[in-house]
Amino acid sequence: MCGIVGYVGPRESQDILVAGLARLEYRGYDSAGIAVIDENGSLGMRKRAGKLARLREALETDPIGRGTTGIGHTRWATHGGPTDENAHPHLADDGRLAVIHNGIIENFAELKRELVAEGVEFLSETDTEVAAALIARAYRANDGDLVAAFRAVVHRLEGAFTLLATHEDHPGLVVGARRNSPLVIGLGEGENFLGSDVAAFVEHTRHALAIGQDEIVAITPDSVTVTDFDGNPAEPQPFEVSWDASAADKGGWSSFMAKEVSEEPEAVANTVRGRIHDGQIVIPELEGLDDLFTGIDRIVILACGTAYYSGLVGKYAIERWARIPTDVELAHEFRYRDPIVDASTLVVSISQSGETMDTLMAVKEAARLGAKTLSICNTQGATIPRESDAIVYTHAGPEVAVASTKAFVAQITALYLLALHVGRVRGSLDAASAADSIEQLEELPEKIQWILDNEQERTEQLAHWMADTRSVLFLGRHVGYPIALEGALKLKEISYIHAEGFAAGELKHGPIALIEPGQPVFVVVPSPRGAATMHAKVISNIEEIRARGARVIAIAEQGDSAVMPSADEVLRIPLASPLFEPILAVVPLHIFAMGLATAKGLDVDQPRNLAKSVTVE
Ligand code: G6P
Repeated sequence: MCGIVGYVGPRESQDILVAGLARLEYRGYDSAGIAVIDENGSLGMRKRAGKLARLREALETDPIGRGTTGIGHTRWATHGGPTDENAHPHLADDGRLAVIHNGIIENFAELKRELVAEGVEFLSETDTEVAAALIARAYRANDGDLVAAFRAVVHRLEGAFTLLATHEDHPGLVVGARRNSPLVIGLGEGENFLGSDVAAFVEHTRHALAIGQDEIVAITPDSVTVTDFDGNPAEPQPFEVSWDASAADKGGWSSFMAKEVSEEPEAVANTVRGRIHDGQIVIPELEGLDDLFTGIDRIVILACGTAYYSGLVGKYAIERWARIPTDVELAHEFRYRDPIVDASTLVVSISQSGETMDTLMAVKEAARLGAKTLSICNTQGATIPRESDAIVYTHAGPEVAVASTKAFVAQITALYLLALHVGRVRGSLDAASAADSIEQLEELPEKIQWILDNEQERTEQLAHWMADTRSVLFLGRHVGYPIALEGALKLKEISYIHAEGFAAGELKHGPIALIEPGQPVFVVVPSPRGAATMHAKVISNIEEIRARGARVIAIAEQGDSAVMPSADEVLRIPLASPLFEPILAVVPLHIFAMGLATAKGLDVDQPRNLAKSVTVE
């Protein structure tokens, strides 16, 4: 949700900014712009509606002078449509100050009225231009001190913001501030960077600093100064980026999504790696934190989107192995309903980005109410883990495609590790189940790889044949139910086809009315070995919809012959215990959604209207 990059140093900043924006484009892609202080000391700015390619064209036909200080922005529109005027940067102080912004300034209308009354004219409909005008006014009042101007302005802003600014009077300086929106610092040699996340600068440096909540940062080529909003020194937390720039490149794949689906085995393997010692789950990040798990009587999982579905799967594992009642809730619903949590509740948040505003706010609310908080996150230096008492990282590597795939399987893996860890700490897990589950976890990467090697082509072919389909339904039971929801979400997100996921048992209570001849229905079939009763029930469900003309595509384990006469197509997954099937069954659904969007000629990485990191509520 808006990508931000800033640079100061000896190099040509335009190239660095545009390359940084290319890596951040997944955060928003309806317009882009940069501002650079050129070698003559004047501020040059170019911005264009549309994807980054349009800005690149504009820079080629109408270049900005060379310069070594600059800021860049890629937008996901909130206030004002995706037009050239509403694109960032926004200028103030007679075009000498440039400002970019991520977030929403909730009191912008009131602030705008105040400025209009003073005679300020606005060119855009954005809340950002209001912030730019306020900074310009404060800059003049503080005798040209940009940091002091920031200090004066941030106190007046309500809502969420990351703001970056550069002023013609100060080549070699970029100032930023953050509240509830992300901003990290990249430390170079004789150069420094700012970015919404490390992707903005990882090709130049892997040394990074995480900026805390309500802090202001000023970077020059040789210095980084961070203070709180009142000017008191603050200590940004250093961290090393654990992946290099090539991990965030397409590497020859047709799309990031194709690459990321191919990395699902690795995402699971890397999330498990280093967390099994002597046949036991040992999560190093949780060492010394047993208290988090012993004094609780309930777990509440909070997340949004795909991460929420991983939470729904995780509930089964936590209740099975750790024997703690577990609720899973959409983070935005949790926060506004006066939730009942206290010190005996562990709130587990799940977020790939670690920045989803709805999840962040829910975690803060839970902490305010006294709950213990643990976050499962894929992004180092992100805000949600920093707001939590404990972190379990997924090690899926950078995920760039907007639709989450490898992070989803890594999230379920991390939840399973957590469930096994808590089961051990609380003594609710017997040694045989623990040993069996660990073995199953370790076998998952190979099994996912089997699906990619043996079923990907057929699944893509199926998607190709179904390119004109107008609606697809997904059914599942038990852990297969959240997988049906995830399959439907993925299809909606990237192929714009109506899709719904249902619990198979709920079918007869309503959804069966949707079945008409030719209606495609994916059915996640439980194992006939590990879950015989559920298997029989799902086969009956298949018969019920087939009798009404549905076209059934079953996802079933190898050797399940009962499914053969009932389904029109069967996509196979390797044998696994029932609890481990979701991590396998989701793989063909990810491939199917991607295949169908590709067959329709759509951009699978950047679907319309979406952004990967949703940093507004
Ligand atoms: C957005 C993305 C989804 C993602 C969700 C939660 O809606 O488009 O792919 O699942 O946010 O994101 P998070 O970073 O919190 O996992």
